[in-house]
Amino acid sequence: MTRRWPVDPDAIVGAGIVVDVFASDRPPTRDELAARASLCDAIVSSVADRIDRALLDALPNLRIVAQAAVGYDNIDLAACRERTIVTTHTPDVLTESTADLTMAILLALARRVREGETMVRHGEWKGWSPTMLLGIELAEKTLGIIGYGRIGKAVATRARAFGMNVLTASRDRNAIERVLAESDVISIHVPGNDSTRHLIGAPELARMRKDAVIINTSRGTVIDEDALVRALVNKEIGGAGLDVYEHEPRVHPGLIDRADVVLLPHLGSATREARARMASTALIDAARILRGQTALHPIPDSGSR
Ligand code: DGY
Repeated sequence: MTRRWPVDPDAIVGAGIVVDVFASDRPPTRDELAARASLCDAIVSSVADRIDRALLDALPNLRIVAQAAVGYDNIDLAACRERTIVTTHTPDVLTESTADLTMAILLALARRVREGETMVRHGEWKGWSPTMLLGIELAEKTLGIIGYGRIGKAVATRARAFGMNVLTASRDRNAIERVLAESDVISIHVPGNDSTRHLIGAPELARMRKDAVIINTSRGTVIDEDALVRALVNKEIGGAGLDVYEHEPRVHPGLIDRADVVLLPHLGSATREARARMASTALIDAARILRGQTALHPIPDSGSR
Protein backbone atom coordinates (compact mmCIF):
# COMPACT_ATOMS: atom_id res chain seq x y z
CA MET A 1 0.00 0.00 0.00
CA THR A 2 1.33 3.42 -0.83
CA ARG A 3 1.19 5.96 1.95
CA ARG A 4 -0.43 9.23 0.81
CA TRP A 5 0.17 11.27 3.91
CA PRO A 6 1.31 14.02 4.35
CA VAL A 7 0.82 14.80 0.66
CA ASP A 8 -0.16 12.98 -2.51
CA PRO A 9 3.18 12.80 -4.36
CA ASP A 10 1.64 11.83 -7.72
CA ALA A 11 -0.56 14.91 -7.68
CA ILE A 12 2.45 17.12 -6.91
CA VAL A 13 4.88 15.79 -9.51
CA GLY A 14 2.24 15.49 -12.24
CA ALA A 15 1.97 13.20 -15.24
CA GLY A 16 4.97 11.39 -16.67
CA ILE A 17 6.89 10.89 -13.42
CA VAL A 18 6.47 7.63 -11.55
CA VAL A 19 6.75 7.93 -7.76
CA ASP A 20 7.83 4.99 -5.59
CA VAL A 21 6.95 5.76 -1.96
CA PHE A 22 8.81 3.91 0.80
CA ALA A 23 5.62 3.13 2.70
CA SER A 24 6.90 3.00 6.26
CA ASP A 25 7.28 5.49 9.08
CA ARG A 26 10.81 4.25 9.72
CA PRO A 27 13.58 5.38 7.38
CA PRO A 28 14.85 2.77 4.93
CA THR A 29 18.05 0.92 5.83
CA ARG A 30 21.05 1.64 3.60
CA ASP A 31 20.50 -1.61 1.71
CA GLU A 32 16.81 -0.91 1.24
CA LEU A 33 17.55 2.58 -0.03
CA ALA A 34 20.26 1.39 -2.41
CA ALA A 35 18.02 -1.38 -3.78
CA ARG A 36 14.82 0.65 -4.06
CA ALA A 37 16.49 3.69 -5.59
CA SER A 38 18.95 1.83 -7.83
CA LEU A 39 17.15 2.87 -11.02
CA CYS A 40 15.74 6.18 -9.80
CA ASP A 41 16.50 9.54 -11.39
CA ALA A 42 15.55 11.44 -8.23
CA ILE A 43 15.30 10.74 -4.53
CA VAL A 44 13.43 12.70 -1.88
CA SER A 45 15.53 12.18 1.23
CA SER A 46 15.14 12.92 4.92
CA VAL A 47 17.69 13.77 7.61
CA ALA A 48 17.71 10.07 8.52
CA ASP A 49 19.09 8.99 5.11
CA ARG A 50 22.88 9.01 4.78
CA ILE A 51 23.61 10.09 1.22
CA ASP A 52 27.31 9.33 0.83
CA ARG A 53 29.69 8.23 -1.93
CA ALA A 54 28.96 4.53 -1.48
CA LEU A 55 25.24 5.09 -1.87
CA LEU A 56 25.65 7.41 -4.84
CA ASP A 57 27.83 4.80 -6.57
CA ALA A 58 24.86 2.41 -6.33
CA LEU A 59 22.50 4.94 -7.98
CA PRO A 60 23.89 5.50 -11.49
CA ASN A 61 20.83 7.32 -12.88
CA LEU A 62 20.50 9.81 -10.06
CA ARG A 63 20.10 13.47 -11.11
CA ILE A 64 18.74 15.08 -7.97
CA VAL A 65 18.70 14.56 -4.21
CA ALA A 66 15.73 16.60 -2.95
CA GLN A 67 16.14 16.77 0.81
CA ALA A 68 12.87 17.21 2.70
CA ALA A 69 14.52 19.24 5.47
CA VAL A 70 16.29 22.54 5.86
CA GLY A 71 19.44 20.86 7.24
CA TYR A 72 21.54 18.68 4.94
CA ASP A 73 24.46 17.44 7.02
CA ASN A 74 23.50 13.87 6.02
CA ILE A 75 24.42 14.56 2.38
CA ASP A 76 27.95 14.44 0.94
CA LEU A 77 27.65 17.58 -1.16
CA ALA A 78 31.10 17.22 -2.72
CA ALA A 79 30.27 13.71 -3.91
CA CYS A 80 27.01 14.98 -5.42
CA ARG A 81 28.82 17.86 -7.12
CA GLU A 82 31.41 15.51 -8.65
CA ARG A 83 28.56 13.49 -10.18
CA THR A 84 26.65 16.66 -11.24
CA ILE A 85 23.77 15.59 -9.02
CA VAL A 86 21.62 18.58 -8.03
CA THR A 87 20.90 18.96 -4.30
CA THR A 88 17.93 20.90 -2.91
CA HIS A 89 16.40 21.45 0.54
CA THR A 90 13.33 23.00 2.15
CA PRO A 91 14.12 26.30 3.88
CA ASP A 92 11.34 28.55 5.26
CA VAL A 93 8.63 25.92 5.45
CA LEU A 94 9.53 24.64 8.94
CA THR A 95 10.67 27.90 10.52
CA GLU A 96 7.53 28.52 12.56
CA SER A 97 7.23 24.89 13.69
CA THR A 98 10.83 24.77 14.90
CA ALA A 99 10.50 28.14 16.64
CA ASP A 100 7.31 26.91 18.35
CA LEU A 101 9.10 23.82 19.62
CA THR A 102 11.99 25.92 20.90
CA MET A 103 9.50 27.93 22.95
CA ALA A 104 7.88 24.73 24.21
CA ILE A 105 11.27 23.56 25.50
CA LEU A 106 12.03 27.00 26.94
CA LEU A 107 8.73 27.05 28.84
CA ALA A 108 9.18 23.45 29.96
CA LEU A 109 12.59 24.29 31.44
CA ALA A 110 11.48 27.60 32.97
CA ARG A 111 8.40 26.10 34.63
CA ARG A 112 9.77 22.60 35.32
CA VAL A 113 6.97 21.02 33.30
CA ARG A 114 8.68 17.65 32.92
CA GLU A 115 9.29 17.28 36.65
CA GLY A 116 5.71 18.31 37.47
CA GLU A 117 4.26 15.89 34.97
CA THR A 118 6.41 13.05 36.27
CA MET A 119 5.38 13.83 39.85
CA VAL A 120 1.68 13.66 39.00
CA ARG A 121 1.95 10.51 36.87
CA HIS A 122 4.02 8.68 39.50
CA GLY A 123 1.56 9.48 42.29
CA GLU A 124 4.20 11.56 44.09
CA TRP A 125 2.11 14.75 44.32
CA LYS A 126 0.84 15.19 47.87
CA GLY A 127 -0.95 18.51 47.33
CA TRP A 128 -0.19 22.19 46.78
CA SER A 129 2.86 23.57 48.46
CA PRO A 130 4.34 27.10 48.44
CA THR A 131 7.84 26.07 47.36
CA MET A 132 7.16 23.05 45.18
CA LEU A 133 8.91 23.07 41.77
CA LEU A 134 9.51 26.79 41.64
CA GLY A 135 10.56 28.01 38.21
CA ILE A 136 11.27 31.40 36.70
CA GLU A 137 9.22 33.99 34.81
CA LEU A 138 10.29 34.72 31.26
CA ALA A 139 9.48 38.46 31.35
CA GLU A 140 12.62 40.59 31.75
CA LYS A 141 14.89 37.56 31.34
CA THR A 142 17.49 37.53 28.56
CA LEU A 143 17.34 35.05 25.72
CA GLY A 144 20.61 34.68 23.83
CA ILE A 145 20.23 33.37 20.30
CA ILE A 146 23.28 31.88 18.60
CA GLY A 147 22.55 31.67 14.87
CA TYR A 148 20.31 34.56 13.88
CA GLY A 149 18.86 33.20 10.66
CA ARG A 150 15.24 32.41 9.82
CA ILE A 151 14.56 30.19 12.83
CA GLY A 152 16.58 32.31 15.26
CA LYS A 153 14.56 35.38 14.22
CA ALA A 154 11.24 33.52 14.61
CA VAL A 155 12.29 32.48 18.13
CA ALA A 156 13.22 36.10 18.92
CA THR A 157 9.74 37.28 17.86
CA ARG A 158 8.11 34.76 20.19
CA ALA A 159 10.47 35.53 23.09
CA ARG A 160 9.83 39.27 22.81
CA ALA A 161 6.09 38.58 23.00
CA PHE A 162 6.81 36.94 26.37
CA GLY A 163 8.61 40.11 27.49
CA MET A 164 12.13 38.70 27.15
CA ASN A 165 15.16 40.74 26.14
CA VAL A 166 16.93 39.20 23.17
CA LEU A 167 20.68 39.11 22.50
CA THR A 168 21.89 37.66 19.22
CA ALA A 169 25.08 36.34 17.68
CA SER A 170 25.89 34.62 14.44
CA ARG A 171 29.50 34.01 13.44
CA ASP A 172 31.22 36.77 15.40
CA ARG A 173 33.15 35.14 18.24
CA ASN A 174 32.92 38.19 20.53
CA ALA A 175 29.16 38.33 20.09
CA ILE A 176 28.88 34.61 20.90
CA GLU A 177 30.97 35.09 24.05
CA ARG A 178 28.71 37.94 25.14
CA VAL A 179 25.56 35.89 24.53
CA LEU A 180 27.02 33.01 26.55
CA ALA A 181 28.00 35.23 29.47
CA GLU A 182 24.90 37.44 29.71
CA SER A 183 21.89 35.23 28.90
CA ASP A 184 19.46 33.42 31.18
CA VAL A 185 18.54 31.12 28.31
CA ILE A 186 20.71 30.34 25.28
CA SER A 187 19.15 28.88 22.15
CA ILE A 188 21.21 27.47 19.29
CA HIS A 189 20.07 27.87 15.65
CA VAL A 190 23.14 27.28 13.50
CA PRO A 191 23.45 24.69 10.70
CA GLY A 192 25.28 21.45 11.40
CA ASN A 193 28.58 21.33 9.51
CA ASP A 194 32.34 21.12 10.09
CA SER A 195 32.57 24.77 11.13
CA THR A 196 29.87 24.47 13.82
CA ARG A 197 30.95 21.07 15.23
CA HIS A 198 31.36 21.46 19.00
CA LEU A 199 30.79 25.21 18.72
CA ILE A 200 29.61 24.76 22.29
CA GLY A 201 32.20 22.82 24.27
CA ALA A 202 33.67 23.00 27.78
CA PRO A 203 35.09 26.56 27.45
CA GLU A 204 31.79 27.94 26.11
CA LEU A 205 29.71 26.17 28.79
CA ALA A 206 32.08 27.58 31.40
CA ARG A 207 31.26 31.10 30.22
CA MET A 208 27.54 30.58 30.94
CA ARG A 209 26.03 31.73 34.21
CA LYS A 210 25.52 28.93 36.73
CA ASP A 211 21.72 29.29 36.56
CA ALA A 212 21.51 29.65 32.77
CA VAL A 213 20.04 26.94 30.54
CA ILE A 214 20.94 25.98 26.99
CA ILE A 215 18.51 24.80 24.30
CA ASN A 216 19.45 23.08 21.06
CA THR A 217 16.93 22.47 18.29
CA SER A 218 19.50 22.75 15.47
CA ARG A 219 21.95 19.84 15.14
CA GLY A 220 23.35 17.62 17.87
CA THR A 221 26.93 17.96 16.65
CA VAL A 222 26.95 21.65 17.62
CA ILE A 223 27.21 20.79 21.35
CA ASP A 224 29.95 18.57 22.77
CA GLU A 225 27.66 16.20 24.70
CA ASP A 226 30.39 14.89 27.01
CA ALA A 227 31.21 18.47 28.01
CA LEU A 228 27.52 19.25 28.47
CA VAL A 229 27.01 16.30 30.80
CA ARG A 230 30.09 17.31 32.82
CA ALA A 231 28.81 20.89 33.10
CA LEU A 232 25.40 19.64 34.31
CA VAL A 233 26.89 17.16 36.79
CA ASN A 234 29.23 19.83 38.19
CA LYS A 235 26.36 22.35 38.38
CA GLU A 236 28.24 24.76 36.14
CA ILE A 237 24.99 25.50 34.26
CA GLY A 238 21.32 25.34 35.25
CA GLY A 239 19.96 22.90 32.69
CA ALA A 240 19.53 21.95 29.05
CA GLY A 241 16.75 21.33 26.56
CA LEU A 242 17.67 19.13 23.63
CA ASP A 243 15.74 18.09 20.54
CA VAL A 244 18.84 16.86 18.68
CA TYR A 245 21.83 14.71 19.66
CA GLU A 246 25.38 14.03 18.55
CA HIS A 247 24.70 10.41 17.61
CA GLU A 248 20.95 10.21 16.88
CA PRO A 249 18.96 8.29 17.85
CA ARG A 250 21.40 7.46 20.68
CA VAL A 251 21.12 9.82 23.62
CA HIS A 252 24.09 10.33 25.94
CA PRO A 253 23.43 8.05 28.96
CA GLY A 254 24.48 10.87 31.28
CA LEU A 255 21.44 12.89 30.20
CA ILE A 256 18.68 10.33 30.54
CA ASP A 257 17.96 10.43 34.27
CA ARG A 258 18.61 14.10 34.90
CA ALA A 259 15.78 16.28 36.18
CA ASP A 260 17.42 19.44 34.85
CA VAL A 261 17.14 18.48 31.18
CA VAL A 262 14.26 18.23 28.74
CA LEU A 263 14.83 15.64 26.01
CA LEU A 264 12.77 15.39 22.82
CA PRO A 265 13.21 13.06 19.82
CA HIS A 266 14.10 15.52 16.99
CA LEU A 267 10.60 17.00 16.72
CA GLY A 268 11.49 20.51 15.49
CA SER A 269 9.61 20.24 12.22
CA ALA A 270 7.09 17.65 13.42
CA THR A 271 3.82 19.42 12.70
CA ARG A 272 1.30 18.38 10.09
CA GLU A 273 1.70 21.73 8.36
CA ALA A 274 5.49 21.72 8.19
CA ARG A 275 5.82 18.08 7.16
CA ALA A 276 3.30 18.55 4.33
CA ARG A 277 5.18 21.65 3.11
CA MET A 278 8.56 19.89 3.40
CA ALA A 279 7.34 16.94 1.33
CA SER A 280 5.70 19.07 -1.35
CA THR A 281 8.64 21.53 -1.59
CA ALA A 282 11.07 18.64 -2.11
CA LEU A 283 8.82 16.88 -4.62
CA ILE A 284 8.35 20.06 -6.65
CA ASP A 285 12.12 20.54 -6.99
CA ALA A 286 12.62 16.86 -7.87
CA ALA A 287 10.02 17.17 -10.64
CA ARG A 288 11.50 20.45 -11.90
CA ILE A 289 14.94 18.91 -12.34
CA LEU A 290 13.52 15.83 -14.07
CA ARG A 291 11.74 18.19 -16.49
CA GLY A 292 14.94 20.13 -17.22
CA GLN A 293 14.02 23.21 -15.17
CA THR A 294 16.15 24.88 -12.49
CA ALA A 295 15.61 24.08 -8.82
CA LEU A 296 13.66 26.52 -6.65
CA HIS A 297 15.60 25.67 -3.48
CA PRO A 298 19.16 24.60 -4.32
CA ILE A 299 21.35 23.92 -1.30
CA PRO A 300 23.52 27.02 -0.78
CA ASP A 301 27.15 26.58 -1.94
CA SER A 302 26.33 23.23 -3.49
CA GLY A 303 26.77 24.51 -7.03
CA SER A 304 23.25 23.22 -7.81
CA ARG A 305 20.82 25.17 -9.96
C1 DGY B 1 15.49 19.90 9.32
O1 DGY B 1 14.68 20.28 8.48
O2 DGY B 1 16.71 20.03 9.17
C2 DGY B 1 14.95 19.23 10.51
O3 DGY B 1 15.93 18.91 11.42
C3 DGY B 1 14.18 17.99 10.08
O4 DGY B 1 13.23 17.77 11.00
